[in-house]
Amino acid sequence: MKTEQYQKRQTATATDKCFRIGRPTAYFILLLLTYTVGYLSASSSTSHPPSPSFTSAVTATNYSSPPSSSSSNQLLDPFRVTTRCVDPIPSELVRQTLLDRFFNGSTPFQDFPADHAAKLLRPTIVKGWGSNGAVFENLIPKVKPRTIIEVGTFLGASALHMAELTRKLGLQTQIICIYDFCGWAGFGDRFENLPMINGDVLLRYQFMQNVVTSNKTGSIIPVPYSSGSALIELCELGVFADLVEIDAGHDFLSAWSDINRGYRILRPGGVLFGHDYFTAADNRGVRRAVDLFARVNGLKVKVDGQHWVIDSVELYYDSS
Ligand SMILES: C[S@@+](CC[C@H](N)C(=O)[O-])C[C@H]1O[C@@H](n2cnc3c(N)ncnc32)[C@H](O)[C@@H]1O
Ligand SMILES: *[C@@H]1O[C@H](CO)[C@@H](O)[C@H](O)[C@H]1NC(C)=O
Ligand SMILES: *[C@@H]1O[C@H](CO)[C@@H](O)[C@H](O)[C@H]1NC(C)=O
Ligand SMILES: *[C@@H]1O[C@H](CO)[C@@H](O)[C@H](O)[C@H]1NC(C)=O
Repeated sequence: MKTEQYQKRQTATATDKCFRIGRPTAYFILLLLTYTVGYLSASSSTSHPPSPSFTSAVTATNYSSPPSSSSSNQLLDPFRVTTRCVDPIPSELVRQTLLDRFFNGSTPFQDFPADHAAKLLRPTIVKGWGSNGAVFENLIPKVKPRTIIEVGTFLGASALHMAELTRKLGLQTQIICIYDFCGWAGFGDRFENLPMINGDVLLRYQFMQNVVTSNKTGSIIPVPYSSGSALIELCELGVFADLVEIDAGHDFLSAWSDINRGYRILRPGGVLFGHDYFTAADNRGVRRAVDLFARVNGLKVKVDGQHWVIDSVELYYDSS
């Protein structure tokens, strides 16, 4: 497990390392945060014209501040992201909506696998991190999710685990796997047995093969894009989830952005959770992003093994 965690930490970017330099970087952090929050909440983006504006789906920006009297809380006011997505579509429409939007109406598992990939795949190659942690067994029977969104899937270890748990409970759950299927710079050092065609590591094919081997093609839907653009799209489609698992980029800015965007598409009563909260001594990006998010929104962070958990019960922008 130690080496797994070490490996996982290696996926943090150089940006994350900047954040560990020391106190003088505080102003720098504030600047970067303001930039990130500005990007998330800007009503029209001039610096990112090609990407759809996150707030084009905004129907309201009302929010009432959580109790904040101290000056440090007021300092955090600008970090509140108040974007709201379009109204959620019914759970039973989620699968077809995604197939229509991303796969021209049919399942990507049709005629799988293509000839050029078939000969390079193995029935199953799975490698995960905390993918069988107790948090899944604790949350799934409690929440009984119709829709789960996983951000950061890799070869599908945690997604397949959740699919099996929901199957055993007899739930009709769709698990949406947001993943760019690219690995990360240098990941091949650790996974040299994964095949490659023209420099492309067939993660998408091997993940899909894992799903086929486990007979879960009816309950798992890959959304093969980077977390930012995929979460924006789900917000604009009204695809909400009862459970959102955040496990993609582990640097502060990636985690901050995924957490904020993931929370926007959580159904009332849903749960946001993610891997890598770790110990009090470990001030890595994920933990700081989770703590800041909880603080600016007046939410509670629960810890379940290596995972953090935030209930959606107190939507701070709820004006009721
Ligand atoms: C720790 S792994 C996920 C493991 C998986 N949840 C499991 O337990 O089996 C994190 C994954 O997130 C991916 N990732 C990093 N940044 C991402 C982004 N912006 N969008 C989508 N995936 C990303 C990485 O390539 C990596 O495969
Ligand atoms: C936002 O606030 C305005 C004025 O208080 C109110 O009329 C409107 O209904 C609110 N919208 C939502 C979605 O809460
Ligand atoms: C999408 O589906 C339509 C009809 O179902 C078909 O005519 C079209 O060629 C398909 N497009 C692609 C890119 O497969
Ligand atoms: C595969 O899953 C389907 C439900 O999606 C089920 O009806 C079928 O019996 C399963 N097949 C096997 C071989 O387990």
